[in-house]
Amino acid sequence: MILCSCNAIREDEVRAAARRGCPCPESAYRSLGCEFQCGSCRDHAEDLILSERAHLLHVDARAA
Ligand code: FES
Repeated sequence: MILCSCNAIREDEVRAAARRGCPCPESAYRSLGCEFQCGSCRDHAEDLILSERAHLLHVDARAA
């Protein structure tokens, strides 16, 4: 599913960026070679990144 229509970024690309360690939408977009244009996707991108990072922390805690 497309998350950012300005940059044609999909949700799974932003989730993958979060899994690679990007802590915020700006760094995730930068890692994908983009930057915010209109900014209307920012809140949703942030929610996805927070969700993905929380999931990773939960998985790490269970593995410890
Ligand atoms: S929809 Fe992402 S910057 Fe415009």
